[in-house]
Amino acid sequence: MNVLVTGGAGYIGSHTVHELINQGFNVVVFDSLENGYKEFLPKTAKLFQGNLENKKDLEEVFSSNKIDAVIHFAGYALVGESMENPVKYFHNNLANGINLLKTMKKFNVNKIVFSSTCATYGIPEKLPLEESHPTNPVNYYGLSKKLFEQVLESSKINFIALRYFNAAGAAFGIGEIHNPETHLIPIVLEAALGKRDSIKIFGTDYPTKDGTCIRDYIHVLDLASAHILALKSLEEGKSGVYNLGTGKGTSVREVIDLCKEITGREIKVIEEERRPGDPAELVAFPLKAKTELNWEAKYNIRDIIKSAWDWHSKHKSI
Ligand SMILES: NC(=O)c1ccc[n+]([C@@H]2O[C@H](COP(=O)([O-])OP(=O)(O)OC[C@H]3O[C@@H](n4cnc5c(N)ncnc54)[C@H](O)[C@@H]3O)[C@@H](O)[C@H]2O)c1
Repeated sequence: MNVLVTGGAGYIGSHTVHELINQGFNVVVFDSLENGYKEFLPKTAKLFQGNLENKKDLEEVFSSNKIDAVIHFAGYALVGESMENPVKYFHNNLANGINLLKTMKKFNVNKIVFSSTCATYGIPEKLPLEESHPTNPVNYYGLSKKLFEQVLESSKINFIALRYFNAAGAAFGIGEIHNPETHLIPIVLEAALGKRDSIKIFGTDYPTKDGTCIRDYIHVLDLASAHILALKSLEEGKSGVYNLGTGKGTSVREVIDLCKEITGREIKVIEEERRPGDPAELVAFPLKAKTELNWEAKYNIRDIIKSAWDWHSKHKSI
């Protein structure tokens, strides 16, 4: 199968591209490289440097390659930035996504796997979060993803939207880089390496076991395998929205303690007030993906941190 991977040079995209190639897929990556790294791609992946904003770029990649399905990772994903500049998020995550769908229709490509997020749910009314939970995002990032899911539903293109919880971990000699980095595990590991003086815990008075926020961390390799199963399910005519999480929550303090243990280093922690809009707990109920996509997370939080440390402690900078 020939797969076009938008955003394939980014963190989750590049890991998925390695797994696709290992499993015999032909891959064309479409990425602007604004936040991606061509060094992260395996040699056998074809890279087309282009922007979803430019219809010409899209038409060129679809006309010069035979494409059977699309995996759509490209987008912006910084919650704070989305509150400062919502239009930037609607433009890239929604309008540019619509450019992609229009081009798919023009070239008769009717299968897409989309990177959605647990940020579509907003503040949980009930935990763990099932796909049927109401979607009331509390930031524009989550709203842009929710709206694109709705566009997909109305598009007559066969889609699977995967709502990832907190992606983390590393494999294939590549790892997680975001600029700026807002994700907990890379931040804590950078502190362990001395690249940061300290890390901040935002809120220690949440109604959780140790007062800090709880999240569901999912290994990037588990995400990669889910995308491949989603492609197979699309072939079988399945469609819909699926949570990708482990179903197990880990608190901020537990992550920091595990990082200290795994790295053997001291990490200076500063306790701060809560940040607005951070739910106390976000944990997936992943049963739908198990029963319908035949997918299940294999890796736990310890595996995730070990793999991330293995990469962070070796890589210099790109
Ligand atoms: N990282 C997470 O924990 C997480 C959780 C839920 C959902 N997601 C979603 O997964 C996807 C991938 O996340 P990531 O962490 O790998 O992000 P990333 O920033 O590392 O990767 C995104 C890639 O898309 C490319 N890109 C962005 N806009 C583009 C455009 N207009 N045209 C072409 N390329 C473009 C970037 O250059 C980058 O390589 C995003 O859509 C994100 O919203 C991520």
